[in-house]
Amino acid sequence: MDLGLKDRVALVAGASRGLGKAVAERLASEGADVVVNSRSARVLAATADEIARRTGRRIVPAAGDVSSQEQCQALVEHAVGEFGRLDILVANAGGPPPGGVDDFGPAAYRDALEVNLMSTVQLTLAALPVMRKNRWGRIVAITSVSVKQPINGLLLSNTARPGVVGFIKTISRDLAADGILCNVVAPGYIHTARVESLVAGQAEARGVSREEILEGMTANIPAGRIGRPSEFANAVAFLASESASYITGHTLQVDGGLVQGLL
Ligand SMILES: NC(=O)c1ccc[n+]([C@@H]2O[C@H](COP(=O)([O-])OP(=O)(O)OC[C@H]3O[C@@H](n4cnc5c(N)ncnc54)[C@H](OP(=O)(O)O)[C@@H]3O)[C@@H](O)[C@H]2O)c1
Repeated sequence: MDLGLKDRVALVAGASRGLGKAVAERLASEGADVVVNSRSARVLAATADEIARRTGRRIVPAAGDVSSQEQCQALVEHAVGEFGRLDILVANAGGPPPGGVDDFGPAAYRDALEVNLMSTVQLTLAALPVMRKNRWGRIVAITSVSVKQPINGLLLSNTARPGVVGFIKTISRDLAADGILCNVVAPGYIHTARVESLVAGQAEARGVSREEILEGMTANIPAGRIGRPSEFANAVAFLASESASYITGHTLQVDGGLVQGLL
C-alpha cells in the first residue's frame, strides 16, 4: 500500500534509539524527511546519519528536552526552518522509573507528568499553527498499554499516561475539520533498551535470570513473543499517513494481544 508519505515532513521526539528511532526510519523509508530529537546530541547525530544512509532521505538531528515548553517550541521552529513545513508530529520520550506507592513523593509524579504528558501537550500546541495553515496534519502520541490496563510496578507510567489519551481524544474532535488527525499508539512489550532495563531491574530485584523474567512476560502475550520495533513503527507510519484519512481520536495498542479489554 502506498501510504502517501513521500515528501512529507515529520518531527519524531525521543528518536535517538528504540521506538522513536524505528518510527523515524519507517517514515523516512516511505519517503518522508524527518527531524529527529532526543536530549543527547552526540547519539542523535549518529542516529540521524544512520537513518539517512539507509533511506536516502534528509534526517535532521535537533537535540532538546521535550519536558521543556521552550525546547518543544524550538524543535517545531527548527523543523519549519529546515523544511518550511511540518506535517507529522510523533510525540514520544523516555518512560518514568518503575516503582509502587511507597517509592515516590510528589516530585516524582510531577516529573513523570512533565515528561510523559506535558511533552505531548507542548509539542502539539507548538505544531498546531503550521498544521492549521496547511490544513493537513497528523499527531501521533506514543504512550503504553498502561492507558488501557495498568501495569504492575509502573505506578508513575500508569498515572501520567492516561492524560495523553484524554488530551488527544478531546483535541481530535476540535481539529478533524481542519484536516488534522490525532491518535495514540500504545506499545505492549517491544524489544528496546527500555524493556531490557526493566527486565534487568526485575531480574535483580527478584534474584532470577533475565531469561526467566522474559519468559514470564511472554507467557501473558497471546502472540507468544515480544514485539519488534519495526512492527510498532508500521502502526505509527500508517496513522501518520494519507491512508489513515478517516481515523482520529483512536488509541491503537500494538501488543501481540496482551490487553484483554474489548476496546
Ligand atoms: N518498548 C516498550 O515495550 C514500551 C512499552 C510501553 C511503553 N513504552 C514507552 O514508549 C516510549 C519509548 O520507548 P522506548 O522503549 O523506545 O524507550 P527508550 O529505549 O528508553 O528510548 C527513549 C528515547 O527517548 C529519548 N528521551 C528520553 N527522555 C527524553 C526527553 N525528556 N526529551 C527528549 N527525548 C527524550 C531517549 O534519548 P535521550 O536519553 O538521549 O534523551 C531515547 O531516544 C517510552 O516512554 C516508553 O516508556 C515502551
